[in-house]
Amino acid sequence: MKLLITGMAGFIGHAVARRLSGQGHEIVGIDNLNDYYDVSLKQARLDDLAGCPDVSFIKLDLVDRAGMAALFHEQRFDRVIHLAAQAGVRYSLENPHVYADSNLIGHLNVLEGCRQQQIEHLVYASSSSVYGMNAKTPFATSDNVDHPVSLYAATKKANELMTHTYSHLYELPTTGLRFFTVYGPWGRPDMAIFKFVKAMMAGQPIQVYNHGDMSRDFTYIDDIVEGIVRVLDVIPQPRSDRQSAVATPDSSTAPYALYNIGHGAPISLMAFIRALEVATGCEANCEYLPMQPGDVPRTWADTEALLQATGYRPQIGVDEGVKRFVEWYREFYKV
Ligand SMILES: NC(=O)c1ccc[n+]([C@@H]2O[C@H](COP(=O)([O-])OP(=O)(O)OC[C@H]3O[C@@H](n4cnc5c(N)ncnc54)[C@H](O)[C@@H]3O)[C@@H](O)[C@H]2O)c1
Repeated sequence: MKLLITGMAGFIGHAVARRLSGQGHEIVGIDNLNDYYDVSLKQARLDDLAGCPDVSFIKLDLVDRAGMAALFHEQRFDRVIHLAAQAGVRYSLENPHVYADSNLIGHLNVLEGCRQQQIEHLVYASSSSVYGMNAKTPFATSDNVDHPVSLYAATKKANELMTHTYSHLYELPTTGLRFFTVYGPWGRPDMAIFKFVKAMMAGQPIQVYNHGDMSRDFTYIDDIVEGIVRVLDVIPQPRSDRQSAVATPDSSTAPYALYNIGHGAPISLMAFIRALEVATGCEANCEYLPMQPGDVPRTWADTEALLQATGYRPQIGVDEGVKRFVEWYREFYKV
């Protein structure tokens, strides 16, 4: 197959490209290499892929409408894995417009490309943040998610809605994946694990929000990648039984699927920090702070639907995952 991976210089995009390389596909990745975080890390991920003869890279911004249309027209992809986006909850309070550009306009340009070229399957990134003020746990895709608490979350929910219209109007098969706090080697410098390890190794304090009363369904990168690869081959079909097909927010008559992809077991922030202390051999000097605006206190994925559809079972627990992250961090940054 010829595959497009958007956001290939990103944390998840790089890992997906690595996993799919050598499987007989032709992989084209795009990314705008923006400086939301250290561009040299994005470049290093691309360098890591440079030895893969079946992977090529094009620097392109999702927002470039003509460029995106030309890409789809010229390359004739079979399937698309759309991971490029402006990520990060907190930054969406500082720079909301970049979320509208990359996540709304950019997403529309991907949808249009998929429609024009009659792509077999679009798999795209959504987020656990769409659950917002949802108090029911574990979070299920059949839950109502009409109360996002950050613009980032709202753009991700908007992506699901926009995508549904394309699945409905043009019979474009699509699968949305709500990722739950992904971590592991090559991870993002703006995320807690990265910031904590960096600070702990430098003997600096770490900022612990909501006075430590948080929990996250931390999901190891390899498990996420496995889920993405499995889902790619499960192409949603249209359904005619309208009554039952529109009974819940995640179901449809259109060829449209939506899954949570998490570990399925929330870990308290303090337990996570203890795992980091073990893996780094450094004590955490915690600076306890109030809840950050836009943040949610806990996440917990109900992954039953993904298990039923693909056999997805996460393999890596937090102790092992954190150990692997710290090993990568030491080697990559030579510390
Ligand atoms: N990592 C997580 O825990 C997590 C959780 C929920 C959802 N997600 C979603 O998963 C996807 C991948 O996340 P990630 O953690 O790999 O983030 P990332 O920031 O490392 O990767 C995203 C990549 O997209 C690129 N990009 C951003 N805007 C672009 C644009 N306009 N045009 C072209 N490229 C652009 C960035 O340069 C970056 O390399 C994103 O859609 C993100 O919202 C991630």
